Amino acid sequence: MIISFIGKGGVGKTTITLNLGAALATYLSQRVLVIDGNTRAPNLSFLLELKEAVSLFDLITDPKNIVKANTEIDGLKVISSPIGSNAELDFEVLKSLLSFFNLSFNFILIDTPPSFTSETLTFMELSDYSILILNPEPLSVIEAYRALQIASRMNVKLLGIIVNKFRQDAVVSLEYIRRNFSLPILAVIPEDPMVQTYTLEQKPFSISNPSTPAGRALMELASYLTGRKIEVQLEKRGIIGTFFSLLKKLFT
Ligand SMILES: Nc1ncnc2c1ncn2[C@@H]1O[C@H](COP(=O)(O)OP(=O)(O)O)[C@@H](O)[C@H]1O
Ligand SMILES: [Mg+2]
Repeated sequence: MIISFIGKGGVGKTTITLNLGAALATYLSQRVLVIDGNTRAPNLSFLLELKEAVSLFDLITDPKNIVKANTEIDGLKVISSPIGSNAELDFEVLKSLLSFFNLSFNFILIDTPPSFTSETLTFMELSDYSILILNPEPLSVIEAYRALQIASRMNVKLLGIIVNKFRQDAVVSLEYIRRNFSLPILAVIPEDPMVQTYTLEQKPFSISNPSTPAGRALMELASYLTGRKIEVQLEKRGIIGTFFSLLKKLFT
């Protein structure tokens, strides 16, 4: 299944795409390909330490380059973007590439550029679904309305909304979003300072600390997308798990 993540700059597309991919691979044993589709300002590869950077352009040159896109996380492959690339992605070439990889991955998750550049529209068109990410603040909501209009004009299927950086005192309430968008809210991810800490460490928080509020919300989203329950006990991994790994370190 190919899913593109769309929304205004800064809402959390890159963070969510990578962390969701890591959660699907780690806890639900899915084969996941995460693609940085933001070719002009690629950030995704900074969220994870990659041994080797493989870009969409490398795959177009030779699809076998996919073997180099491995990450430290089993089942997760990441396609980064060459920094500041101005090369255009050819629609037909990209289409056949994505169909080809769709055969060997359970999920292809695409992080798109901010707003609705031609690249974003291309990725939306080539995806089975798009997921709209917004923050509970007015400008991001306006951008989300625009996304709704564009998606309905293009006949793109919007699976639902992720409300990211949610705070109880946010100007835009969940109730407002429910009332004004005819789409399901798939996840509410709280504003969580740990997100940036893990960004600095280049580790997905959904794996390093799945019991943080943001981690839990992502786990639920991963469960929803596969229709399966996550079996790992979050509390155990978070607190008791850390305790055991400390003990292990002391005794080995
Ligand atoms: N739930 C969250 N809580 C706190 N900070 C977040 C959260 N989600 C994303 N961020 C931070 O917000 C900033 C923008 O996120 P990013 O994923 O780069 O957005 P986008 O790709 O949509 O431009 C980053 O600094 C990121 O660490
Ligand atoms: Mg981004």
